[in-house]
Amino acid sequence: MKTKTLSLVLFAGTALAALPAQAAGSLNLICSADVVICEQMTGDFQKETGIKVNMVRLSSGETYAKVRAEARNPKTDIWWAGTGDPHLQAASDGLTLEYKSPMLDQLQDWAKKQAEGSGYRTVGVYAGALGWGYNTEIFSKKGLKEPKCWADLLDTSLKGEVQMANPNSSGTAYTALASLVQIMGEDQAFDYLKKLNGNIAQYTKSGSAPVKAAARGETGLGIVFMHDAVSQTAEGFPIKAIAPCEGTGYEIGSMSIIRGAKNLDSAKAWYDWALKPEVQSRMKDAKSFQLPSNKSAEVPKEAPRFEDIKLIDYDFATFGDAEKRKQLLERWDREVGAAAN
Ligand code: G6P
Repeated sequence: MKTKTLSLVLFAGTALAALPAQAAGSLNLICSADVVICEQMTGDFQKETGIKVNMVRLSSGETYAKVRAEARNPKTDIWWAGTGDPHLQAASDGLTLEYKSPMLDQLQDWAKKQAEGSGYRTVGVYAGALGWGYNTEIFSKKGLKEPKCWADLLDTSLKGEVQMANPNSSGTAYTALASLVQIMGEDQAFDYLKKLNGNIAQYTKSGSAPVKAAARGETGLGIVFMHDAVSQTAEGFPIKAIAPCEGTGYEIGSMSIIRGAKNLDSAKAWYDWALKPEVQSRMKDAKSFQLPSNKSAEVPKEAPRFEDIKLIDYDFATFGDAEKRKQLLERWDREVGAAAN
């Protein structure tokens, strides 16, 4: 008798444990932030909801290209993180779905504006300013001066010491291209990039790779988001983050649901969850030091503050436009990329 009761209890226990996971479903997610935060987010979400996440890490420009290519038969449900411009470009192409999260009211104005400007096809999840990080040990060994301004990066003493990403694949590098165009005017920006090309050792695929290379001593300096430089400093590397003296652009890291998502309920569950203050407050545990979009989320003490940086009034409507992207990238390929090969 005793045994029978026990086995019934055990059976009920197994059945109950199995149920939520089955009912919870799955989610195909592209993550365009750093792989450490991508893994932390997907792990936490799976634990909290039981929804199984298939996560792929791709740079922002690569994701935009993939989402475009798969428009008729989307393999992705949700695209979390990565710079805002390609999310806006995907929105203007009608590749992403309109969704008004109940969490919208809790967000900073810049995050809400991102949603409003896209007809609610994307939303801001974090923000961060562009700059660079340089290896202080390499610079002092080689007797190089601290570069404080964009103009300083053209100094011939930095030949072979600078890395940045390719703006076709990387949202970070597209932000750099668009920021320079806004600071200098388009023709002067391309003149600048052509000259800078003389100092560039390599154009990487992902946006943060250049400062990771600088941290390892493979190069002197990486043009990256300042928070990516700060995370290398926090890892113990001799990296110093710089905010350019002439002013600089910034990203509104974004999130979009793909139109035609096969797991729409799971995608909405992720969307609302990723905007929660407690979820955004945990990003610093992965050394992800962006400014969070939820007003109640904790701003990491390491996060570079916008108040301390000379920021341009980045024109997201213009530079988040699909045609503008195409035009700027074609010109970059012709005038800069071609010279680099
Ligand atoms: C890093 C930054 C993010 C940014 C992303 C863009 O992960 O921490 O804030 O959104 O780069 O990546 P990408 O490879 O597209 O430049």
